[in-house]
Amino acid sequence: MTDVLSVVQAAVEKLEGAGATAPRVALILGSGLGHIADRMEGTTRVTASDIPGYPPSTVEGHDGVFVVGTLDGKSVVALSGRIHGYEGHAPEVLGIPARILCALEPEVLIVTNAAGGIRDDLVPGDLMLIADHVNLTALSPLMGANIDAWGPRFPDMSDVYPTSWRDRMRAAASASGVPLQEGVYGCVSGPQYETPAEIRAMRAMGIDAVGMSTVPEAIVASHMGIPVLGVSVISNKAAGMSGEKLAHEEVLEASATAGRRLGSLLLAVLGSLG
Ligand code: HPA
Repeated sequence: MTDVLSVVQAAVEKLEGAGATAPRVALILGSGLGHIADRMEGTTRVTASDIPGYPPSTVEGHDGVFVVGTLDGKSVVALSGRIHGYEGHAPEVLGIPARILCALEPEVLIVTNAAGGIRDDLVPGDLMLIADHVNLTALSPLMGANIDAWGPRFPDMSDVYPTSWRDRMRAAASASGVPLQEGVYGCVSGPQYETPAEIRAMRAMGIDAVGMSTVPEAIVASHMGIPVLGVSVISNKAAGMSGEKLAHEEVLEASATAGRRLGSLLLAVLGSLG
């Protein structure tokens, strides 16, 4: 089993050395959204490969780099390029990136991703604020020994995406003229996209959009007492809904376009922090 604590401690030391003490916001940027980190100022980069024991990513568009700096004058640490369960990482390893960010004690962890829209009114290019999630992977990043300093063995998950933070994001969206949907995110392990039958099952379960990330990070943050704001970029209609086959290139492309609006939304939220 990976010694998660040592990896996190080593990473925190490196990031604090780069100026990342108690950032206002920690940010995880999903597929095709890394360019949002380019808007940051006064940046220092710590690449994942510089952190001993950090799990390497293997997916195009996901190279791991922590960017320390400011956005709209607020201190931010952004992780561009995440790791996914389908790469073969053990559950507790999947939690490492969010553990690192949350150990820096940000006021909030903002997580972004690309997702397939299941609810009929969610169309490619939409942004969806995550109201809650359903973990369909049957795995948890909290499996294995609990580190009591981080949180309890059996943490409550009834308020992962707190209403007060979602209210703030919705207000920032309307103030900046960015349309924002809201819904429940379902997390699958992937890497295969879903079958149409799986999508019908998810719809019946109350899932509005599906993706292969975010939930392990949100679980870890909640375990550590850090509130989470999640935004999905709807990159495609989920399997069987549009008559088209799903392709990773399409996901990257749609995310890049909608990502510009997501960038404006994030700036607006930062602006609301005071
Ligand atoms: N399914 C799962 N993950 C995804 C999808 C999808 O349709 N789109 C982007 N990530």
